[in-house]
Amino acid sequence: MTKTFLQAAVEIAKGAGAILREELEYAPEIAYKGDFDLVTQADRRSEAWIVGRLQEFFPEHAIAAEEGTAKDKESEYRWHVDPLDGTTNFAHGYPCFCVSMALARKNELVLGVIYNPVYEELFTAQRGEGAYFNGKRIHCSRIETLKNSLLCTGFPNHKRHAHPNIYYYWDFTLRSHGVRRDGSAALDLAYVAAGRFDGFWEFGLKPWDTAAGVLLVEEAGGTISDLEGQPYTLGGKTILASNGLIHTEMKQLAVEIANRPMPPL
Ligand code: IPD
Ligand code: CA
Ligand code: CA
Repeated sequence: MTKTFLQAAVEIAKGAGAILREELEYAPEIAYKGDFDLVTQADRRSEAWIVGRLQEFFPEHAIAAEEGTAKDKESEYRWHVDPLDGTTNFAHGYPCFCVSMALARKNELVLGVIYNPVYEELFTAQRGEGAYFNGKRIHCSRIETLKNSLLCTGFPNHKRHAHPNIYYYWDFTLRSHGVRRDGSAALDLAYVAAGRFDGFWEFGLKPWDTAAGVLLVEEAGGTISDLEGQPYTLGGKTILASNGLIHTEMKQLAVEIANRPMPPL
């Protein structure tokens, strides 16, 4: 039987998740991509599995995956793959990480799959067909104000000592129910889609971090833009995701912070 894109992506993400669960049993061998950017055998094994299976199922598709075993080719289809989003958590045995896979057709996201193998939580979306959590339809939250919202953000691995996001973190924390910093941007976005968080922002994320999550949030009725409220493009400098209802308030606060003189870090 020919598999649909979604069936294939779910099967592959679950297979990658099984690899991550297995690797979690062992103390990870950590290598560094910079001073702080970790990579483990789990990232590499997961990516090799995903890329291998995608090539078997869809040999004509292009693939852009984080650890660089990607296949670039002329194709209207391109997979964006993060084989392990939340590597730092994984390396410390903190069970908040996932596999993230998205498919774009002619640069438009058409499918997203995010899988947390520890909790066996599967988030899926297809353009125009809604967002799902373990097979059940999900929607963004109905929280209407920033002061009643629960938010999340993240900090880049490589530049964490001097990053202006600390000022955004400060302000948003004081003006909401709190800001979580969970360490997996893909899960952060999936949680906005599922209504667990009401809003999320971050700087400097790559296409493989956000592609699946962006589609999930859109299909769950939320809003995606950059921190100035302009359209977000994959790999853009900033991203703002919300349930839609608090989007303007979040954007206005972000613009206010950006225009304020920031004390030196
Ligand atoms: C990281 C996570 C983290 C975010 C970092 C990303 P990785 O991805 O998504 O939440 O704050 O900016 O680089 O390195 O664990 O795949
Ligand atoms: Ca990532
Ligand atoms: Ca990764």
